Amino acid sequence: MAVNIARRDLLKAGGLIVAGGALGGCATATGLNPAVPPAAKVIQSPEQIGTTPADTGASAGSGMPPQDKPTWTPKAEDPFAYSLADNLFWNDVMMEHAMFFQSLMPGKELDGPRSQAAEFQRLFAQQLDQSRGLAQDNYAAFNQRSISLARRFGDWKKEMREQQASGRMRSLVWPLFFQHTAREADRFASRLDLYNKRQIEFQRSELIDFWSKTMGEHSGFIAHLLDPDERVLISQASKMEKAFLREGFKQVRGDEVMKAAKEILDFKTVGEKGIYAGKIKSIIPPALASHVRREAVKFVDELQRASAA
Ligand SMILES: [Fe+2]
Ligand SMILES: [Fe+2]
Repeated sequence: MAVNIARRDLLKAGGLIVAGGALGGCATATGLNPAVPPAAKVIQSPEQIGTTPADTGASAGSGMPPQDKPTWTPKAEDPFAYSLADNLFWNDVMMEHAMFFQSLMPGKELDGPRSQAAEFQRLFAQQLDQSRGLAQDNYAAFNQRSISLARRFGDWKKEMREQQASGRMRSLVWPLFFQHTAREADRFASRLDLYNKRQIEFQRSELIDFWSKTMGEHSGFIAHLLDPDERVLISQASKMEKAFLREGFKQVRGDEVMKAAKEILDFKTVGEKGIYAGKIKSIIPPALASHVRREAVKFVDELQRASAA
């Protein structure tokens, strides 16, 4: 291989260049080091940033290694294709949320919520595996089952959020992580609800609002899960958190949002590689690195569809 750079060193080196002003200020939409996107192009693999058009019988499965999971997107512009892609994508995402919660709920005193999370994992794994059999004549009823399950999980996450925030529960799950994942559950349910009304179009303001919050909060999670020694990466993540959560993102021009979406995707692809390779010091589970990267791929895809419409 011509390029053999430690991912962490590369980001770190880039950070120092920016700190020294050698690249002439900030040319990125998020405040991300301008050296990261070109560097990411060298490091990232096509599967990390690519999408896979969802087909019936797709090789999705609850047991697939997280880094190998495709990011499912609609193969056609119709409610069935959108339902298939979203069931394959979001049921998996929901299943992984349930897995993350369990690993962050140690000890006997958390036996109750941990077993509830395990039950949600089982239910979403089943729903994911059955999504592969979606057909024109059964998708609306299947969507309805996913909607009920996602709404139940969303309500449970909100209840857990209250418990954690008030100190009635002492798990390792931040209240914001419950809130964030509840919003994803609600969005999944509302999109399926639209498909059952034969509506697939994105509302640009809703799309940008949802994904900006999602990407901004991911950046905050990343900043807080990195080893305190990873100062350059923490500062990069915090800059993106600020950029995505600032109110103005709703108004910015389309190409600026797309630029920002691609920047955070680059940051996450490099981060994912670094975490799997043990080059980044953190307590980020590799599955979580893959999870947030896939959500960024989905953001870019939805944004492209909304822009093309
Ligand atoms: Fe998620
Ligand atoms: Fe997320």
